[in-house]
Amino acid sequence: MIETMEEKAIQEIKQLLQLVDQKLSSIPSSPMKHDLIHEIKQWSDEKKESESMEQVVNPYEVSAKDGGKIDYDKIVEKFGCKRVDQSLIDRVHRLTSRDPHVFLRRGVFFAHRDFNEILDSFERGDKFYLYTGRGPSSEALHLGHLIPFMFTKYLQEAFKVPVVIQLTDDEKFMWSKTLKVEDTKRLARENIKDIIACGFDVEKTFIFSNIEHAGTFYENTLKIGKCVTVNKANAIFGFAGEDPVGKMGFPPVQAAPSFASSFQHLFLGKDNNLRCLIPCAIDQDPYFRMTRDVAPRLDYSKPALIESKFLPSLKASTFKLGVNGKMSASNPNSAIYVTDTTKDIKKKVNSAFSGGKDNSTEQENAGADLEVDIPFKYLSFFLDDDAELEHIKKEYGEGRMLSGPVKQRLTEVLTEVVEKHRKARAAVTDEMVNAFMAVRPLPKMFD
Ligand code: TYM
Ligand code: TRP
Repeated sequence: MIETMEEKAIQEIKQLLQLVDQKLSSIPSSPMKHDLIHEIKQWSDEKKESESMEQVVNPYEVSAKDGGKIDYDKIVEKFGCKRVDQSLIDRVHRLTSRDPHVFLRRGVFFAHRDFNEILDSFERGDKFYLYTGRGPSSEALHLGHLIPFMFTKYLQEAFKVPVVIQLTDDEKFMWSKTLKVEDTKRLARENIKDIIACGFDVEKTFIFSNIEHAGTFYENTLKIGKCVTVNKANAIFGFAGEDPVGKMGFPPVQAAPSFASSFQHLFLGKDNNLRCLIPCAIDQDPYFRMTRDVAPRLDYSKPALIESKFLPSLKASTFKLGVNGKMSASNPNSAIYVTDTTKDIKKKVNSAFSGGKDNSTEQENAGADLEVDIPFKYLSFFLDDDAELEHIKKEYGEGRMLSGPVKQRLTEVLTEVVEKHRKARAAVTDEMVNAFMAVRPLPKMFD
């Protein structure tokens, strides 16, 4: 009987498992043995999960099928949003009389909901406001986090509209095993400095922290909400599940800033139907699908969205993202942080996953595989010059350029981005943070 490779491997594994079982029975019961069995169980659960893994994109997890690339066409279809097409980009160009941002030209912001309607009403002279946010889960932001803020700053300038920015310190507290309310509150203020460094105009921008602006009463509701499981609440009130019951209360907190009436001090209750446009990465879409769903029931207009792809991990083999999502925060080498030095950047870029061939002869013959080449992908996000990018694409893709000079160029480009950010960040004072966070009217918000 001829066995296939798979059949043979399966037979071998079964024998090994028998051996494991025999060995286990030979060890007397002990805490160590108990831990070992627990470890085996965890390993098997992980295998089971990764075998059945479909593409997952939601605010809490981003992972591709079989460790491959994110299929953005599939997301658009599944979520029911629309592709940003060339005619929409041309319209932005016409309406703002300036070059569309590199993230629009290169398809980074690739999907939308009702962005065309925002442009229609803008054309008629109607205003709108921008809303975006950040969950302060870490000390420093990485370049992926900066993408929606850089883009929002461009939209603020191009359309001359106000921006509200929500810091979801409550969310990060509720989801974290280690962070305390005091920690996420502090991280929020630190992250705000990075956000301000993106260049927002204090006369047109209101930044708020869910916890700070709501005060100690809300802080206590969070602390309480984290202590009660759904199981417990179920026993008392008839809910179900193992999560903190507080998680269930969060989505409305991210939804509320989509409605102008949430900001009485800005819009003075006169503009309750001022439309809202939300720039974010596509992982946030589920929150706003929910928001759009409830809007008509509250007699509010639905927020429009413009949504980006993810900046992939530097270590991606085939654009595999970190298990914990967009760009693995657990492996600092997989992302460029705004605090990285030129030396760090150089080291990280040099060890990034390359689509170039192993030696120069092969590279000259076959060219680089640009589909999987991370340095080229990063250049397409951060190198502004279209002609230069086109040149690199041709030369590198056809083998006349080696991966070394491409990485060298990327190191220069990223160093410039990070250096510029570092200088701007260093100039942000606590007074400036207070100014952006002050509850106040913005008389010049549409100028
Ligand atoms: P947070 O802090 O996880 O992420 C902030 C923003 O960055 C986007 N993002 C990325 N974009 C491109 N490439 C990446 N690798 C990458 N990683 C993260 C996120 O989609 C997000 O837009 N709960 C939210 C905070 C929030 C919010 C909002 C976001 C509150 N209200 C309204 C967008 C719009 C959060 O924790 O984001
Ligand atoms: N929920 C987002 C996160 O976990 C943070 C966030 C809050 C946000 N409000 C936002 C992101 C608005 C974009 C736009 O990262």
